[in-house]
Amino acid sequence: MSTAFVKGASAANTDNTDDAAGADGAGQGVAARPAADTAAGGAAVPVSYPHETIVTWQAPPLRMGLGATKEIGYELAALGVGSALLVTDPNLAAIGLAGRVGALMEQAGVETTVFAEAYVEPTDRSCEEAARELAGRPVDGYVAVGGGSSIDTAKVLNLLHSYPDVPLRDYLNKPVGAGRKIPGALKPLVAVPTTAGSGSECTAMVALGITDLRIKTGISDLRLRPSAAIIDPLNTLTLPPAVTAASGYDVLTHACESYTARPYDRRPPYPSPAGRPIYVGANPISDIWAEKALELLGRYFRRAVLNPTDLEARVGMSQAAAYAGMGFGNAGTHIPHACAYPIAGMVTDYRPHDYAVDHPLVPHGESVIATAPAAFEFTYPTSPERHLRAAELLGANLAGVGARGGADVLPQTILDLLADTGGPRGVGGFGYDASDIPRLVDGAIQQQRLLVGCPRDVGAEELTRIFHASLEY
Ligand SMILES: NC(=O)c1ccc[n+]([C@@H]2O[C@H](COP(=O)([O-])OP(=O)(O)OC[C@H]3O[C@@H](n4cnc5c(N)ncnc54)[C@H](O)[C@@H]3O)[C@@H](O)[C@H]2O)c1
Ligand SMILES: [Fe+2]
Repeated sequence: MSTAFVKGASAANTDNTDDAAGADGAGQGVAARPAADTAAGGAAVPVSYPHETIVTWQAPPLRMGLGATKEIGYELAALGVGSALLVTDPNLAAIGLAGRVGALMEQAGVETTVFAEAYVEPTDRSCEEAARELAGRPVDGYVAVGGGSSIDTAKVLNLLHSYPDVPLRDYLNKPVGAGRKIPGALKPLVAVPTTAGSGSECTAMVALGITDLRIKTGISDLRLRPSAAIIDPLNTLTLPPAVTAASGYDVLTHACESYTARPYDRRPPYPSPAGRPIYVGANPISDIWAEKALELLGRYFRRAVLNPTDLEARVGMSQAAAYAGMGFGNAGTHIPHACAYPIAGMVTDYRPHDYAVDHPLVPHGESVIATAPAAFEFTYPTSPERHLRAAELLGANLAGVGARGGADVLPQTILDLLADTGGPRGVGGFGYDASDIPRLVDGAIQQQRLLVGCPRDVGAEELTRIFHASLEY
């Protein structure tokens, strides 16, 4: 912890402390730079810092627990929603989960229109088509019932219906899009996650495939954060094992990446509050959520995959997903997510187990975990203690591991989890070989919004090494 002590300052302003260091002393080295004129005693003295010093952190109100879905009518009434578009995917409609939520909404007097065509791993095209199909059917609000695919589709529909004259491409993160801010308010959106995965119920972003470019990218804007989330582990009981596993890998990488991201106070100061990104880097608030998510994953992930009816494990995983969302949704992610976007975007014919879809796809969770072992080996020297702590929370035994020899501990802990849960053993399993790496690297390099969160500098050369190391474990 460093203290910004300014000679001559009054008692009232000597509390200019940078008291935001994490357990690893993340604030060290951020010394105050006294302003030129500090001689006059008593007056408030301006202080400038060489690094950023401020954390921003937000999450939606949550309603969480077994049976929480029954309170959806109450939640919508509180938000003033009398008519809603319920967005879900065909599979969730077929198994009756979405219908159950729709019936609860109707019982509460909410006029409900169901859109059950959310595309699994949504794209710009799937969202634009859905927006066109639903145009001219005004509603007061949106309810998303599903995994990240349905929640992100609902977020985009809300956006496109609210501002029909602005093309979707304008909002996409640079350099793929123009990174345009959402012009004004959106309608209320209540997210009801049915996976223990994306954490999209907590975040201010969406992830979309860009069909023409065969890449994925996102939109980040505080207005995209759901108005409320209803986290009911009962909704996850029907998840098949491979989807439980894939969505759990997403939770795992969210927690590990946000926990090891370049800390908020090891970045240059932002010129204005408006210029501060949503992803501020590892920080003391997000750390709490990331650590708790890792602990829950360590205890419940294998159990949830291996025994789908283990209710205690489902509760733990639902909490882990939301907590990781509250962490990474503010701190950000880095290399595994940046690499995942081209892995998913360039897929040609990989068809995962247990996914009831008729198009090839690399599930987001599989795409993020595939480069995670190599990525965390690369980032290890920036914070050995954080990498080891993450591994320990996931269940690793650190006895005999010294900080200098521990680079393989988190990677090996992840590989053990993958082995026990039937996960991918590298990007080769999705049909890629060494000849694809230059294109994968090109796609990853475009995710600067994420790569800026890498705790050490990373460019094409490093990403090439990471992809090579990740071809097969
Ligand atoms: N916006 C964000 O913050 C964010 C964060 C991470 C991931 N994402 C995105 O989320 C998407 C992935 O979401 P996901 O992993 O949650 O899954 P998903 O929404 O893609 O669903 C995967 C499959 O599981 C099925 N399914 C979902 N819940 C089920 C249940 N309870 N029972 C039976 N089947 C069920 C779905 O029908 C689908 O076939 C990707 O597009 C990814 O990019 C977004
Ligand atoms: Fe993710």
